[in-house]
Amino acid sequence: MVKQIFSIDDARKMARGKLPRLAFDYIDGAAGNEDLNHLNASAIDQIRLQPRVLVKVEDRVLKKNLLDREWGLPFGIAPMGLAGLAWPEADRMLAQAARKYDIPVGVSTMGSCSMEEMKRYAGGNGWFQLYVGPDEEMTMALVDRAEKCGYETMLLTADVPEVAKRNREQRNGFEAPFRIGVKQFVDFATHPHWSLSTLVRGKPQLVNVRARDSASGFRRSDSRAWVDWTFLDKLRSRWKGNLVVKGITSVQDALSVQQAGADGIYVSNHGGRQLNSAPATIEVLPGIRQAVGEDYPILFDSGIRNGEAVVKVLAKGADYAMLGRPFLYGIGARREAGLERIVEILLQEIRSTLAQIGRVSMEEIDTGVLAGTD
Ligand SMILES: Cc1cc2nc3c(=O)[nH]c(=O)nc-3n(C[C@H](O)[C@H](O)[C@H](O)COP(=O)(O)O)c2cc1C
Repeated sequence: MVKQIFSIDDARKMARGKLPRLAFDYIDGAAGNEDLNHLNASAIDQIRLQPRVLVKVEDRVLKKNLLDREWGLPFGIAPMGLAGLAWPEADRMLAQAARKYDIPVGVSTMGSCSMEEMKRYAGGNGWFQLYVGPDEEMTMALVDRAEKCGYETMLLTADVPEVAKRNREQRNGFEAPFRIGVKQFVDFATHPHWSLSTLVRGKPQLVNVRARDSASGFRRSDSRAWVDWTFLDKLRSRWKGNLVVKGITSVQDALSVQQAGADGIYVSNHGGRQLNSAPATIEVLPGIRQAVGEDYPILFDSGIRNGEAVVKVLAKGADYAMLGRPFLYGIGARREAGLERIVEILLQEIRSTLAQIGRVSMEEIDTGVLAGTD
């Protein structure tokens, strides 16, 4: 059993011991046989950085510009639905950490804390993540709510026309909102700390879309297959804030998003949770960067598991890195302290990486830091 957290993998192992299987597998799992989830990380691992010597690197700055604003660190928290399964009030912890470190946090449509409350916790660090509902009217009701809350940036997640088949979820009888049968009862009974905390606070709910008969109510399993490029045009005319389209892995799609007037693209394969046979995001990133030009904002996620990986994805063309599971592993392992530990590990690893490659700021990271380019 892991007692201390020195890496994201340590936090993952600790969380696995502390959470009921249903909760851990929801966070950790991916689509199909989960090949892509592993490939995302191993493809980043394969990239080599070039050490440089005798460079003065005493003062290193981790700040990063994106979408007309400077952020405290070059990485942020990806939107995650039902984060409350990692621990009650995980959403609040994520929002407060985002504010503390001045990084963005995605506020999921499928969040276990309302978008109104999340805005209060996260302030200007919260980005609303929009899932399209079963029809346009319900979806636009969510957009109106986000505007009323005062969100300045919206992420439209486009890679979930339907929620993909996730074998671990099916095996565990995971349904959102989940039902408690005999199997789940045994799972919860053997993890009393989590279960009692969850019992006290109430099981996590999809609070933003809870009331099915309300203007913006729907279920996680509802199909969003009706949506097409004309919806993006409508959303662009309706939403005046920053609009970023998440879930892009194709050059063609990246160009179409850019032409539709979005303010940026978010290269992601949903952490391998949608199409298991999709390419690793790091493999498609350089081609997308080349197609959209050097000034168009690109966010990136899927498979980042350490600070060197953050530097590598920026070197391959991203402007900003996002991570999902690692933050929930931290919360599952040690609540707020575990979450902050993950942020601290990443920032220390990035700082150390900069020293090794002879760079003093994130703005200096380009393809020149990759091995074999000098
Ligand atoms: C538990 C969990 C829930 C997620 N829920 C959402 C969501 O509600 N909306 C969304 O756009 N992406 C969601 N994602 C995908 C993440 O935003 C992100 O793309 C992915 O986790 C990145 O991969 P990584 O976990 O390897 O860092 C979820 C991911 C996880 C692990």
